[in-house]
Amino acid sequence: MATKGIILAGGSGSRLYPMTSAFSKQLQPVYDKPLIYYPLSTLMLVGIRDILLISTPQDTPNFERLLGDGSRYGISLSYAVQDAPRGLADAFRVGKDFVGGSPVSLILGDNLFFGKLDFYRRALANNTGATVFGYPVTDAERYGVVEMGPDGKVLSIEEKPAKPKSNLAIPGLYVYNNDVMQIAADLQPSKRGELEITDVHQAYLKQGALNVELIGRGVAWLDTGTPESLLDAGVFVHAIEKRQGLKIGCLEEIALQQGFLSTDEFKTSIGMLPKSSYRTYCESLLSNGTIL
Ligand code: DAU
Repeated sequence: MATKGIILAGGSGSRLYPMTSAFSKQLQPVYDKPLIYYPLSTLMLVGIRDILLISTPQDTPNFERLLGDGSRYGISLSYAVQDAPRGLADAFRVGKDFVGGSPVSLILGDNLFFGKLDFYRRALANNTGATVFGYPVTDAERYGVVEMGPDGKVLSIEEKPAKPKSNLAIPGLYVYNNDVMQIAADLQPSKRGELEITDVHQAYLKQGALNVELIGRGVAWLDTGTPESLLDAGVFVHAIEKRQGLKIGCLEEIALQQGFLSTDEFKTSIGMLPKSSYRTYCESLLSNGTIL
């Protein structure tokens, strides 16, 4: 059964105030595109085509206006509202009807990945329970943290520990079998009143069904939670795009490259774009024929 995708793009975005007072964090620009393009492109690049976007009552219509039903990218995009920020694991309650009996992968709408996504493809192909990733950082206390034994066994998993037991942060990208639906349904809110994703992983760990894959060098995982990290992400995207002349997270390009759109469908999609450097870039893909 094909894995379905959920993008969780709600929350208050209070750390980015006042930028987030009129529209949400995941709609803020990261250089030349809204932030949401990047996690959406990550799902598309590994072949996930049936995707639910969850956001707040105020912002969901903005995402719908931006991305539509996904047909212009050769994917199916649906939307659901989370009426209060009840925690990351609430995504599975809100998305219950969408997921049905399928395996599902969750990505947080503010997580940006760049580089070879083979680690993610492998996880999708091999996952039997839950697969999360470990990424070395210098400020692990800001994230979910996994501690592993020398044999690769998971020893512990903690949410924002004051004293992290390792430097391995868990990015906001997760792969689950369908058991996650029942685990999320049975979850109790934590002390801070949220349905914690770390508690979902604890439940899998207890069953011996939690797998951790390390993401090593060569993949950039960028955070966009503060004004500074949002700017850093924009500068990063700008530097790569300027150097290579290739865009990161261009949804039309990925759709063409993945075969989600035929060349004719791609032409129709980009024919709808307003005159812009984005459109010119898409048009150039047809003339120079380099889809890398
Ligand atoms: O970015 C990776 C980290 O994401 C993980 O390492 C942590 O384990 C995980 O808990 C999460 O930590 P954050 O501190 O980033 O979580 P935050 O509450 O900021 O939520 C992440 C995104 O999800 C945020 O952009 C808003 C959205 N969100 C959050 C909540 C709690 C929702 O859409 N709904 C919610 O109910």
